[in-house]
Amino acid sequence: MNSSRATLIAGRRRADAPWCICGAKIMTKHALLAIAALTTAVPMTPAGAADPAAIARGKYLVTIASCHDCHTPGYFLGKPDMGRFLGGSEVGFEVPGLGVFHGPNLTPDKGTGLGNWTDAEIVAAIQKGQRPDGRMLAPTMPSPAFANLTKQDVDAIVAFLRSLPPVANKVPSPFGPTEAPTSFVMKVVPPGGK
Ligand code: HEC
Repeated sequence: MNSSRATLIAGRRRADAPWCICGAKIMTKHALLAIAALTTAVPMTPAGAADPAAIARGKYLVTIASCHDCHTPGYFLGKPDMGRFLGGSEVGFEVPGLGVFHGPNLTPDKGTGLGNWTDAEIVAAIQKGQRPDGRMLAPTMPSPAFANLTKQDVDAIVAFLRSLPPVANKVPSPFGPTEAPTSFVMKVVPPGGK
């Protein structure tokens, strides 16, 4: 480094330092109060964490869309287990000709829930009825209705699902139309039939 450049940098440093001190000194009490108010009014969201307003909107949508009914243990037995909210239903739905399907675990548990799914995969399941493995969900899952959600609303639902405490609960795999289910079944019974 030649000497003139060294002087320039040193000079800038010397010029910077007093400016900073002056800046702090001339900050009025009002300005400080305004900054304090701002930091209280706008809560800091850690990087990567979802927006609390989106989570609240998602909670509202999940509540009115009744996801809880088909996806929470105990709901169809008259005693929803709110400690395992959206942790997967033990009661399967029979779809004649297709088989028996349980509302799976929607919590972020990695082994049994949606913990390893991407946001786009969860959105595709909700709105298109398509699982990451390509299987189309049984029509019990009301995806055609949820296809009408706006992008913002379906993203809010995903944000809310991701905010849930993980529940380890694997629902029974779907039973084929000729298989005998080993779980509770909500059954479609033909007239006069059993
Ligand atoms: C009427 C019952 C019902 C309602 C209401 C319902 N679901 Fe489902 N859902 C199901 C069933 C049953 C399946 C599994 C179908 C299958 O395996 O083919 C399913 C599957 C899913 C899946 C795929 C999960 C996986 O592991 O395969 C997601 C995600 C999902 N539902 C989210 C939701 C959300 C979010 C809501 C509310 C906005 C909701 N569901 C409302 C019955 C329902």
